[in-house]
Amino acid sequence: MKRAVIIFWSKTGNTEKVAYSIRDGLEDAGVEISVLRTEEAGDVDYFDYDLVCVGFPSYFWHPPKPMADLLKSKFNEHRREGRIRPGAPKILGKNALIFCTYSGPHTGIDEATPAGKYAGQFFEHIGFTVLGEWYVLGEFHGNEEASTEGRMGDIRGKPTEGDLGKIREDARKLSEKL
Ligand SMILES: Cc1cc2nc3c(=O)[nH]c(=O)nc-3n(C[C@H](O)[C@H](O)[C@H](O)COP(=O)(O)O)c2cc1C
Repeated sequence: MKRAVIIFWSKTGNTEKVAYSIRDGLEDAGVEISVLRTEEAGDVDYFDYDLVCVGFPSYFWHPPKPMADLLKSKFNEHRREGRIRPGAPKILGKNALIFCTYSGPHTGIDEATPAGKYAGQFFEHIGFTVLGEWYVLGEFHGNEEASTEGRMGDIRGKPTEGDLGKIREDARKLSEKL
């Protein structure tokens, strides 16, 4: 049985919804899975899993501090263990998925891709294969203007049940690559 872990940080619930939809899709595919918030994930050994999924909202096109801190502390741990190697040789069967929710009020998805790419590098550096970077639009809770007049239009209510159903299906399909 393949094993996966989902580590996420979410302030207003959008990323949390995506995390649980990914969990549902992987579970549908028979993957054994745990879901953890950043504060519970300090001791996770990425190498215990076939797939590590990391999710967060875009904050000023970066991962928010709790996620950035976790990624960096894991990186330092991996460096101490000698896992950061020149050329970053690929380790067969070790995979990552990055998911980033965003509202894109000013420049759209470009506000999220730098955060996703940045997070992905922590996995590429230890030889994991990043199977996907999923960028999911979410309402900017507490900011009406950004949720209705931004680059992405009216994004109230996003991610919708339909969006989440698609994510679940995409996660099920992703499991075929493990
Ligand atoms: C402090 C703060 C900064 C944000 N910065 C950005 C940003 O730079 N670009 C963007 O697209 N969305 C930005 N957002 C919107 C969130 O990324 C978006 O609403 C996200 O889906 C929230 O996820 P959550 O509900 O899991 O906390 C920001 C939200 C907050 C609260």
